[in-house]
Amino acid sequence: MKTYLVTGGAGFIGSNYINYMFKKYGNDIRIINVDVLTYAGNLENLRDVEGRDNYTFIRADICDREAIDKIFAENDIDRVVHFAAESHVDRSITNPEVFVKTNVLGTATMLNAARKAWENEDGTYKEGKKFLHVSTDEVYGSLDEDPNAFFYETTPYSPHSPYSASKASSDMLVKAYMDTYKFPANITNCSNNYGPYQFPEKLIPLIIHNALEGKKLPVYGDGKNVRDWLYVEDHAKAIDMVQEKGRLFETYNVGGHNEKQNIEIVKTIIDTLREELDDSDPRKEHLTYDLITYVTDRKGHDRRYAIAPDKIKAEIGWEPETMFKDGIKKTIKWYFENQEWMDHVTSGDYEKYYEKMYSNR
Ligand code: NAD
Ligand code: DAU
Repeated sequence: MKTYLVTGGAGFIGSNYINYMFKKYGNDIRIINVDVLTYAGNLENLRDVEGRDNYTFIRADICDREAIDKIFAENDIDRVVHFAAESHVDRSITNPEVFVKTNVLGTATMLNAARKAWENEDGTYKEGKKFLHVSTDEVYGSLDEDPNAFFYETTPYSPHSPYSASKASSDMLVKAYMDTYKFPANITNCSNNYGPYQFPEKLIPLIIHNALEGKKLPVYGDGKNVRDWLYVEDHAKAIDMVQEKGRLFETYNVGGHNEKQNIEIVKTIIDTLREELDDSDPRKEHLTYDLITYVTDRKGHDRRYAIAPDKIKAEIGWEPETMFKDGIKKTIKWYFENQEWMDHVTSGDYEKYYEKMYSNR
């Protein structure tokens, strides 16, 4: 049975990945989830798996070498899937230091701990050990509006925000460990994810939350920036497939060929929520395009991201499965039906949940 060490598993993508992996492999794998639980980590996302014998949660900081070494010493880890990071561009603009600490130093800590645990005396590695570093398409910078321009694995790095610069640095560290120590790793660079359990600082859940509360819907700049949206479970599947079928030391781009302008996303959310709300619901009357408010643009706002997922398709056979029109409806419906989840993450109640569930462990 393989043992996975997942970092940042209480976050948006990490929790969807853990839920996906248990759905796929059941009792055939073991997962240790290491997360320090910043504002973005929420154990409520993992309610469905927390009672399992083959799941363990450990609250620890990926920058804490002693704590990470201890986890490797006490467990024979086969796979590391490294999600933990500070992930929000706007926060990186106001407070860049924590992004350098978590994303760069935290990744260095994970690499060093895994290398120490896995390396044989002759510089080879124990059989079958693999590290997957989860990264972003933002490292490639920004594309103009030429519809034939895409990010490939060979596109030079050109990060603009402190967030993407910190992720680019962490990617470079992983590449350096692969080149220098033949460290058994892969990197995935993925486009914008959407789906359940995303913290409402990000565009889609923020707009849904505000729309249901009758608040203004802030659109940065002219609303015509383009993102390439991928349903989060498709990303989880890609990560698993890269780890099991990808060539070691390779980078794979992951994306949905699904470019949308931000304003289009906002209008889709309004239209879909109006379909969900009963005519008798008083919120419906106010939920119109009039809520859309153009606000000051994000500093250094990248214009367009678009991934060419050709390599992962050709080598591994991965393709996105969820059509955007279905995925976005499913997502909006999920937030609509789970307003309690939203209330908890916006009120800090999940801290109480953590105390209740884990204070005696
Ligand atoms: P998130 O902010 O929702 O979750 C991050 C998780 O990491 C949280 O649970 C948080 O508590 C944890 N964490 C933060 N600092 C930590 C530390 N020092 N020690 C231990 N845990 C810590 O992020 P996300 O959107 O799920 O993104 C996960 C990863 O995927 C990130 O590396 C991000 O760069 C990458 N990524 C995200 C997207 C996207 O669209 N969200 C797209 C491509 C790649
Ligand atoms: O491309 C992958 C990246 O996608 C990930 O690496 C990041 O972790 C993830 O946060 C995401 O970054 P973005 O900056 O693209 O996502 P965000 O949801 O913050 O913004 C999406 C677009 O919407 C962007 O063009 C900015 C705009 N926006 C965002 C917010 C929060 C608005 O217009 N209004 C808003 O209130």
